[in-house]
Amino acid sequence: MAGGIGSRLQPLTHVTTKHLLPVGPYPMIYHPLYKLRQIGIRSIMIVTSRWNAGDMIRVLGSGSEMGVSITYRVQEEAGGIAQALALAEDFVNGGPVVVLLGDNIFYDHLGPFTEAFRQQKEGAKILLKQVSEPERYGIAELENGQIVSLAEKPSNPRSNYAVTGIYMYDSSVFDIIRKQKPSKRGELEITDVNREYLRRQSLTFDFLPNWWVDAGTHQSLLEANRLASTMDLQI
Ligand code: DAU
Repeated sequence: MAGGIGSRLQPLTHVTTKHLLPVGPYPMIYHPLYKLRQIGIRSIMIVTSRWNAGDMIRVLGSGSEMGVSITYRVQEEAGGIAQALALAEDFVNGGPVVVLLGDNIFYDHLGPFTEAFRQQKEGAKILLKQVSEPERYGIAELENGQIVSLAEKPSNPRSNYAVTGIYMYDSSVFDIIRKQKPSKRGELEITDVNREYLRRQSLTFDFLPNWWVDAGTHQSLLEANRLASTMDLQI
């Protein structure tokens, strides 16, 4: 997912989309593409905004240089992550889907998690990471090792377990999004999608063991650059 307007990274995002800003030696979007390729996903849709689609295509082209096949889809307005995901329905074509937010930079190999999700057969899976500023994220409240509630950027967070931007869904996600209503900030929230899976008791989770950064602010972009400075994405 590489739509949105990147307002928190202005004035850097006057140059181009946040997803093409440098993270270590690579443009940011290379990181999620690499993570997908690493688990054998070579058929990838990138959702981008109309202002940035040109830059994105110029940099990535068909994906052939990275050994992946990229389909582009334009999200006309920043109507939320769930709205962006809805654009992938035909592309996903009834199968399961891995969704990565384009500004999530992390160390771990996703293989064990997607394999566990494959065994699960239906529902959804999310990955959690302990963070120091829980107000910035979707937050999962845990009780006896189970998620009991999910909240998007709560002012009084009930835990410091952030829901990372790494999601696995079965194809019923599209019916869930169709029934969704925009939040107070006018977006179709991915947290509401996850909450629906929680209500259906078909949401599983795991913890991401190594470092994870949402590179959507100047401070966290700096941190992502520091952590990813020696990463070799073999591109
Ligand atoms: O990084 C994890 C967090 O990402 C989660 O904990 C939150 O629950 C989730 O809502 C999200 O929060 P952010 O405030 O970081 O979302 P942001 O608006 O920065 O969007 C994240 C990515 O999703 C961004 O790289 C572009 C893409 N996006 C976003 C919006 C709003 C789209 O493709 N379309 C959109 O309309």
